[in-house]
Amino acid sequence: MLLCVGGGIAAYKACETARLLVKAGAQVRAALTPAAQKFVSPLTFQALTGEHVATDLFSAEQELAAGHIALSDWAELALVAPATANLLARLRLGQADDVAAATLLAIEPRKWLLAPAMNEKMWASAAVQENLRILRERGARVVGPAVGEMAERTHVGPGRLAEPEVIAAAVEVLLGPHDFEGVPVLVTAGPTREAFDPVRFLSNPSSGRMGFALAEAARDRGAQVTLISGPTELPPVSGVKQVGVVSAEELAKAVDEHLDGVRVVVMAAAVADQRPADRAPQKIKKKEGEEVVRLVRTPDILAGLGARPQHPLLVGFAAETENLEENAREKLAKKNLDLIVANDAGAFGQEQSRVVILGKDGARAELSGSKLALAHAVWNMVRERLPR
Ligand code: CTP
Repeated sequence: MLLCVGGGIAAYKACETARLLVKAGAQVRAALTPAAQKFVSPLTFQALTGEHVATDLFSAEQELAAGHIALSDWAELALVAPATANLLARLRLGQADDVAAATLLAIEPRKWLLAPAMNEKMWASAAVQENLRILRERGARVVGPAVGEMAERTHVGPGRLAEPEVIAAAVEVLLGPHDFEGVPVLVTAGPTREAFDPVRFLSNPSSGRMGFALAEAARDRGAQVTLISGPTELPPVSGVKQVGVVSAEELAKAVDEHLDGVRVVVMAAAVADQRPADRAPQKIKKKEGEEVVRLVRTPDILAGLGARPQHPLLVGFAAETENLEENAREKLAKKNLDLIVANDAGAFGQEQSRVVILGKDGARAELSGSKLALAHAVWNMVRERLPR
């Protein structure tokens, strides 16, 4: 793999990252931007990796020994750590003015793993956020940044380079065995909206983050992913077939239409259990005094799947405010699921979460971490139960 080091104070952590990756068995070749070389020495990376280090696009000697295009052809993965604001901007624009950027541009973005690091105000800037969003849309993967103390010590916030162990773990997932290679899976995400009239609806605050993380993790493990999502503000997950729905009934229909050949269904969507019995064709005008709305049940999609004589492996979610495990265990049995992920309904919309995963075989795992890390834990448990 290629390790591109950008010019930021976090470049010193790229040395430790290189050491961990080599220790884990990766063949690592480093490319340093001119700015990176003001923070760390090429010699450090040469000693850690045992490989030539690319530092100069215009060095006749380096280009002859291992040209930057040969380097890009060779790399199975390109880690950019630290991915500075400057480097992200250049990658977005396709500006190949040093050996690291030029080599990266000749590699498909889906093979890039960006580890951003910068001051928290730079990180929050519209320019950086937009550049990163576009790079993600082109297929780039991102690890971090972590939240914590900045180099200036007086600043705290998101922008710290992810810890070397975290970066190495992300690399391992991308380069590691694709244990879901070619397996068709279906993931649902986000809330549903049940309309009263053209401008009002019944819904919940689900952000869709957990379902999107599940889709991303499955894709990274080689699965063929269909993601059916209610309304969310999240950017699309590249390399995933995405279907947008609004109501529970639309979701039920979309699940049915995309079920062919699917081996695993993960229902992370927060489906409304009721909808208004009548949907007014025009905006309902207010009346004096109390009003009563009649609600009717929506189809229980998961229970419907569980009741079929032949069905894919089923994973449900249970968002609870009390008696978490008891309620989840009841749903596991009632809906005939293989696994259920129980979480506190208070975690809606948050990046980190705490869950208890229960299996119909009696398995129980209590986990906390980022939604992406939890998503991988769910797929680990699915893989153990998936018939070969
Ligand atoms: N679910 C579903 N169809 C519905 C409602 C829920 O497929 N109409 C799925 C959810 O996606 C989730 C699981 O069922 O995976 C549990 O949903 P939840 O709403 O927590 O449980 P309910 O069975 O609806 O029970 P309750 O609302 O009483 O807690």
